[in-house]
Amino acid sequence: MRIVASLVSQKQVRNKSSCCGLKNAKATKKLYALCVSNILELKNKKNRNFALTTTSMSSKKNVLRLHAEEEYKAELAALKKIDKGQKPENWQLSPKAVVQYIMGTELADGTKIEQKYYGDQRLIEVAVATLVTDRALLLMGIPGTAKTWLSEHLTAAISGNSTLLVQGTAGLSEDALRYGWNYARLIAEGPSKKSIVESPVMNGMQNGQLVRIEELTRIPSDVQDTLLTILSEKTLPVPELNTEIQAIKGFNVIATANDRDKGVNELSSALRRRFNTVVMPLPKSFEQEVEIVRTRVEKSGHKLKLPKNNVPIAEIKRLITIFRELRQGSTEDGKMKLKSPGSTLSTAEAISVMNNGIALATHFGNGKVSPKDIAASLEGAIVKDPVQDKIVWKEYLETVIKGRKDWKDLYEALKK
Ligand SMILES: Nc1ncnc2c1ncn2[C@@H]1O[C@H](COP(=O)(O)OP(=O)(O)OP(=O)(O)O)[C@@H](O)[C@H]1O
Ligand SMILES: [Mg+2]
Repeated sequence: MRIVASLVSQKQVRNKSSCCGLKNAKATKKLYALCVSNILELKNKKNRNFALTTTSMSSKKNVLRLHAEEEYKAELAALKKIDKGQKPENWQLSPKAVVQYIMGTELADGTKIEQKYYGDQRLIEVAVATLVTDRALLLMGIPGTAKTWLSEHLTAAISGNSTLLVQGTAGLSEDALRYGWNYARLIAEGPSKKSIVESPVMNGMQNGQLVRIEELTRIPSDVQDTLLTILSEKTLPVPELNTEIQAIKGFNVIATANDRDKGVNELSSALRRRFNTVVMPLPKSFEQEVEIVRTRVEKSGHKLKLPKNNVPIAEIKRLITIFRELRQGSTEDGKMKLKSPGSTLSTAEAISVMNNGIALATHFGNGKVSPKDIAASLEGAIVKDPVQDKIVWKEYLETVIKGRKDWKDLYEALKK
């Protein structure tokens, strides 16, 4: 009742009762609930319309970011057409074709499959193979190592739907992993399947699709344990209805977890046993990292309608050199030892430094990315701790950057 009252105030209900021609009727508890139910139904109808509008908006391609299965629809369809491999039940593609979708290739019919992940193919094969088994997949690693990116593309390729997503937060309740109730309907009609509000997990279990759980370790440990029965027994008990939901084939979970951030919770060993963990590494080589930043920058530049030839490869190379040297604590030639800042300096951060630089050059400069445009956000990405990181950065600036003759322009821009 408290929840109903918070959704719709008594006053609103009285007004609605008068609308229903019951001005003088004494509102009984049932009537109150029925009216609230009607109002919520109307509200749901509105929301459904909104959902329909958003879907049609997606098809018009004017949303800021399309889901992977929409953006790469043509690639997925082409792969499906030629896919002769054995598909696990309810999978859209065979495991081999999923790996091709992630790692990129050129198909016999000439369709180019863009490379989504840069790194070890074996790691992707292990991830896909895990999803074929009854174990769930945990992508673990420091920030910006493509955990979320990979989980979105895996769900898009395997289930054709990357939207069954639970965002892990410290305030997440069990309902968000299991199910909630439409309280108005519950009071009006009593407990029934119709009054259940499904979570993405319940939805995935019933439809045989993959479910993503982002930032698993941010979820309080006791709430994390809700997943135990779901992952081992593949059932979700609904004691209120004296029933259970049994997962159908194709259901599994991909969780991501960050092992660097503060304020994260431990994974219980019981839960850890139900996951196969794949640790996402930072890019191995300089060339690989440059390529990741180049492709991502090119893609986002295209989305923001920035000029096509605006990908400043020379600046990307300098930026990645700085990131890698500070990360590994020595210059690329190994001749000088350096202190590392506390910041992660991930590839994702390099991408945003470049994107910022390009936006500055396009809108406030002559369109060509200059060291001045990069300098604006470079220091911000490196110096997260204003005392310790600042000392490390100043030392690097004065010893390494200043010492490189062809980096004079960058040194001057950073000094300013
Ligand atoms: N090896 C890689 N291959 C392809 N893209 C990568 C790679 N590493 C990083 N990226 C890019 O970095 C960006 C950020 O990745 P993502 O958000 O998935 O990181 P994350 O590991 O989930 O980070 P966080 O822990 O902060 O959530 C994406 O745009 C992704 O394309
Ligand atoms: Mg993430």
